Amino acid sequence: MADINNIYKPLRATLEDVIEESPLIKTFVLVPEREFIFRTGQFIELSVEGIGEAPFTPSSSPLITDRLEVTVMKTGFVTEYMHDLKPGAMMGIRGPYGRGYPVDEFKGKEILILGGGCGLAPIRSLLFTLESMTDKLEKVILCYGSKTPADCIYKPLFSRLNSIDKFETYRTVDITDDEWEGPVGVATTLLDNIRVDIDRSVAVVCGPPIMMKYGTKRLVEMGYRDNQIYLSMEKNMSCGLGKCGHCMMGEFFVCKDGPVFTWDEIKHVPEIW
Ligand SMILES: Cc1cc2nc3c(=O)[nH]c(=O)nc-3n(C[C@H](O)[C@H](O)[C@H](O)COP(=O)(O)OP(=O)(O)OC[C@H]3O[C@@H](n4cnc5c(N)ncnc54)[C@H](O)[C@@H]3O)c2cc1C
Ligand code: FES
Repeated sequence: MADINNIYKPLRATLEDVIEESPLIKTFVLVPEREFIFRTGQFIELSVEGIGEAPFTPSSSPLITDRLEVTVMKTGFVTEYMHDLKPGAMMGIRGPYGRGYPVDEFKGKEILILGGGCGLAPIRSLLFTLESMTDKLEKVILCYGSKTPADCIYKPLFSRLNSIDKFETYRTVDITDDEWEGPVGVATTLLDNIRVDIDRSVAVVCGPPIMMKYGTKRLVEMGYRDNQIYLSMEKNMSCGLGKCGHCMMGEFFVCKDGPVFTWDEIKHVPEIW
């Protein structure tokens, strides 16, 4: 948690390792100066002193509190700087903020997860959580799409999950290469071939806006009710605390009321994607 006397003061953390996940994506393994507790789906503001901060959703298990992993795609000023950091560097963590996944409500259900690109980062944290409660779940199905095979992150995760009873994973790519032998097509096409008992299921969607839009549409066509679909929304953020208004989406502060919403809660908001 941040210093209680100054809500903007970050917790110091040492960068222990940097894992290259794809040409544009790296995972930062951080050791906070004290225990850091979060719920899966909540986000943090991660900073580099003198450079700036940006919101990210931890990609590690919330059950591990002495280490934190954050998977960062290089998109602009702060993330480019982060990608050049080496182990030993100091970083800052504010948070955790917002509302994560209501995993207790997932008990007894089949969880269908649709992910694309760097959207697999929050999903990985959710998968670790679901793995820790497998006995309370019916089934977990992960459908993931990346632009190319090289852009797929956490590759070993897929085979590991497939070896666990009740877990199924499926991957596709938009553009193939010489070695890829799996399906080619956008992530939503994977939904055509999965078997799921929709009445006893919830769906989780996280990825680029275009995938979220068409993924949600497809889930509704499949028969999912609006309150069975959970979306992790990304809006430009600053304070993370419901104070600055940067993250407004309709009447919601994404930082405080989200970032996880059901489709039922936000479907009326114009220009949502
Ligand atoms: C709740 C939340 C969780 C997130 N989790 C992750 C994560 O786990 N991993 C990850 O790589 N990224 C995540 N993001 C996106 C990440 O915050 C942005 O990529 C980052 O802020 C870009 O900072 P920058 O200074 O490098 O880019 P900038 O120089 O600020 O901008 C570069 C480009 O990125 C766009 N951009 C800037 N901020 C955001 C934003 N918040 N969301 C979407 N696009 C943005 C800009 O419009 C611009 O086109 C998350 C965002 C939110 C709101
Ligand atoms: S980021 Fe400031 S109000 Fe949400």
